[in-house]
Amino acid sequence: MAEMKVGFYGHVRQYHNLREEIDAVIHEVLESGTYVLGPQVQKFEEELARYSNAKEAIGVNSGTDALWLVFIALGIGPGDEVITTSNTFFATAEAIWLAGATPVFVDIDPRTRNIDVTRIEAAITPKTRAIVPVHLYGLPADMPAIAAIARARNLRVTEDCAQAIGASGNGFAIGELSDAVCTSFIIQKNLGCFGDGGAVVTNLQDLATTVRKLRNHGSLKRSFHSIGYNSRLDELHAAVLRVKLKQVDAWSRLRQERAREYDKLLAGSPLTLPYTPPGYQHVFHLYVIDSDDRDGLQAHLSSRGITALTHYPIAIHQQEGFPWGREARVVGSLHHTEQSAARVLSLPLYPEITAEEVAYVAEAIQDWVGKRSGALAQEAR
Ligand SMILES: Cc1ncc(COP(=O)(O)O)c(C=O)c1O
Repeated sequence: MAEMKVGFYGHVRQYHNLREEIDAVIHEVLESGTYVLGPQVQKFEEELARYSNAKEAIGVNSGTDALWLVFIALGIGPGDEVITTSNTFFATAEAIWLAGATPVFVDIDPRTRNIDVTRIEAAITPKTRAIVPVHLYGLPADMPAIAAIARARNLRVTEDCAQAIGASGNGFAIGELSDAVCTSFIIQKNLGCFGDGGAVVTNLQDLATTVRKLRNHGSLKRSFHSIGYNSRLDELHAAVLRVKLKQVDAWSRLRQERAREYDKLLAGSPLTLPYTPPGYQHVFHLYVIDSDDRDGLQAHLSSRGITALTHYPIAIHQQEGFPWGREARVVGSLHHTEQSAARVLSLPLYPEITAEEVAYVAEAIQDWVGKRSGALAQEAR
C-alpha cells in the first residue's frame, strides 16, 4: 500500500463537513451580543435533555466540573467514600478528591475494561456514599448490576459518560439507572465543541436546580446568591453543540462501521480486539486493542505515518505522587487495571476516517504481527 499519514483525530474534517452551518451559528452568536448563559445554552440544554430522554440537562464548563458539581449537589464531601475504577481519565478520581471525598478503586472486568461489578460489594463500608461507573471508550458499564447494589445499600450513582454519549446497554439506556449522567464536550469527544464544555443530565429536579445554581455563583436570579462557582457553558460552544448534536447518532453509526472493519481486518491476529457484550451499543469513542508489545506496535505504526495513542498508560493509583496528600483506597488487586494500562493501544477511529485509512492501519498492524511472529519463531529455533 502507498504510504499515507493517518492522524488520530478528525476534528478539522468534521468542521469542514459542517463549515457552513457552524460558521453561520458562530456569526449569529457574535452578532447577538450575548455570550454567557443566553438562548443558545438554554436551547442546547432543552435539546440535550430531549436527546437523553431526561427531564433536565445543565451545561457546565467541563466534564470534570459536571462530576464535581454533582458530587457537591449530592452532599458528598469529606469523610465520604466513592467507588470507581483506576482505569479511567484522571478527572474521574480528581472530581471525587475536589469534592473532598475519598475515591475507592476496584478492579475492572478484563473484557469490557469497565468496573467489575462483582467487586463492588467488598469495597462498601459505612462511609460509602456513591458509585461512579465510567463508560470507558464508549461502552456502558453494567448499570443494572450497579443500580441493584446501589438500591440495596442506599448509595447514589453518577455515570461518567464523558466517552459514551449515545451508547446504550442491553435493555437499559444511559441515565435510566442512576442519579445523574456527566458528559464532556472537549473537542476530542464524540460530541465536541471548540474548547472545553460539559453537561449534567438528570431526572432529579432538585439535583438539577442545585447544579444550575452551583455553576453560576450560587445564583438563579440576579443578586440572589449562595456560595457556588463559575462553571458555565459559553453561548458559542452551545451553538456549535446544537449543530453537532443533530449528527451524533449518525456519527456513532459511522464509528461502529469503521470499528467492524477493523474487527474484520484484524481478526485472527494475536491482538485482543474490543469486546461488546450482547445487546450493547458501543459508540467507539476509542477503538482499543491490546498487545503484549504495545510500545513496539505503537512505534511501528508511527514509522508508517499512523498516530496511535494510549488511554491510559498509567493507571491512576500507579501514578507518581499518588494520592497527592489526599485519601484514597485500593480494594483488592487491581491486576486487570494494571494489565490493561500496560497493554492498550487506541487506533485512529472517527466518523470522518476513510475505509482506505482503516485498511492502511490494519495492513500496517498485520505487517508488524507477521514480522514479529517471524522474529519470535527465529528466536525459538
Ligand atoms: C472518562 C472521563 N471522565 C472525565 C473527563 C473529564 O472531562 P473534561 O476534560 O471535559 O473535564 C474525561 C475527558 O476528558 C473523561 O474521558
